Amino acid sequence: MKFLFLNGVNLNMTGVREKGIYGTQTLEEINREIAAHFKGDVCEFFQSNIEGEICTKIQSAQTEGYDGVILNAGAFTHYSIAIRDAISSVSVPVIEVHISNVQAREEFRRTSVISPVCKGVICGFGKNSYILAAESFKL
Ligand code: DQA
Repeated sequence: MKFLFLNGVNLNMTGVREKGIYGTQTLEEINREIAAHFKGDVCEFFQSNIEGEICTKIQSAQTEGYDGVILNAGAFTHYSIAIRDAISSVSVPVIEVHISNVQAREEFRRTSVISPVCKGVICGFGKNSYILAAESFKL
């Protein structure tokens, strides 16, 4: 299968920021583990702090023939109508993921504007949230 692992704003700081919440591994280290787990599949990884770049990448998932997008939009999750609309624009299924359990944190993290247009949501399993989401496409 062909997967796009997409990380939004501040996810490049994983392993550096709030280690008690997001862990000590860098995003590069996490991505390497994901690639090793899915070694029989095609995995592409992309991170951006720029909302529009995330939208463009979601749009390109359609033309580039991805089977699924695994999206940790970071804080964009809670307010980006642009990312929501990009997800709605494509038929490629998108799964929303979070490293932390956003439901168990601040009130504002309990709102996701993208959940209603995603195939599902996986949160709270650390780096394994990404792996669990992609595995679901194989069931
Ligand atoms: C996050 C949760 C978001 O609320 C937060 O803004 C992030 C990371 C997570 O992976 O747990 O940047 O998406």
